[in-house]
Amino acid sequence: MTLPSTIDPQDMRNLVDHFPQLLNTLQLEKTIINLCKDYRKKGISGICFLGMGGSSIAGNYVKALLEQSSKIPISLVRDYSLPTSIDTDWLVIAVSYSGNTEETLSGLVQAKERGCNIIRITSGGEMGQESEDPIIRLPTGLQPRATLPLMLSAILAVTEILIGSNRTDFGKLESLIITMNSSWKEWDETPKEMAESLFGKVPIFIGANHLKPVAYRAKCQVNENAKAPAFYSEIPEANHNEIEGFFDIYGCKMIPIFLRSQHESTRIARRLDITYDLYLEMDLSPFKIQAQGQTLLEEMLTLTHYLDSVSVELAYLGDVDPVSVERIQDLKHRLST
Ligand code: F6R
Repeated sequence: MTLPSTIDPQDMRNLVDHFPQLLNTLQLEKTIINLCKDYRKKGISGICFLGMGGSSIAGNYVKALLEQSSKIPISLVRDYSLPTSIDTDWLVIAVSYSGNTEETLSGLVQAKERGCNIIRITSGGEMGQESEDPIIRLPTGLQPRATLPLMLSAILAVTEILIGSNRTDFGKLESLIITMNSSWKEWDETPKEMAESLFGKVPIFIGANHLKPVAYRAKCQVNENAKAPAFYSEIPEANHNEIEGFFDIYGCKMIPIFLRSQHESTRIARRLDITYDLYLEMDLSPFKIQAQGQTLLEEMLTLTHYLDSVSVELAYLGDVDPVSVERIQDLKHRLST
């Protein structure tokens, strides 16, 4: 796979700007396509995505997108061990950008011991060493979280073949996001303006249905790129707990950010509207961000591109380097000694 020549791995704004192109950069090899077709024919009991942090997001998106329509369970493991139900007839898709993340390696060992079918997605490390498992190889030298579009295009394509659903046209998706987001004119505020509104405050990204993982991704991107606190929550669940504990406290200004979709059911839309009003009455200054695009996937990705850009602008406002993640590296180093 060749990355676009304009990519600069040391510049997070450049990487986020390439989000649409990166969705259409990785083409699955014929051997992987045929293998997935064989699994489909043979029948598998379920699909399990294994991965941590930036390497878990793509699986999270695919699960949210396809689990309602899939006849087999789609499971996401972000830990050391696999549930006992994940066994021989499952396909485990182990994702680790570095190929050295210990939780993912531990899950992979278990998957092997249980005789699961396995596909690895990595740029190298231990997981990238030659093995009998098929490997989808990612280019080296990038931050894992910046490779979401590459990982997603691979994982979504594989899952669509496995469950027999229509294949996504990533070329179309690339053009659509470029059209929607090239000047940000479809959005109420540009990412920079949104970052200026959020700077010095603590955002809580709130999503329902397919926008739950988008809210989670936004929280992680603010944490990792802007080195700032951020949280996420899910509707309807947050209506049964968080709503009681949500007010300005300890001098910390919380900003609820509602991620909205044109696909909301009447009840979910009503919940989001009422929750927004309640927070407004509590002087919390909530925001609404309407996802752009027609399909669920288009909404997820236009919004992710927008919010990734917000996180980078927040980093620049806070004068921090959005690429480096020194504490994550320090922690991994201490664990390894
Ligand atoms: C760093 C990042 C992290 C890593 C995580 C797992 O950009 O996003 O969340 O993704 O520490 O590491 P990998 O992806 O190498 O398995």
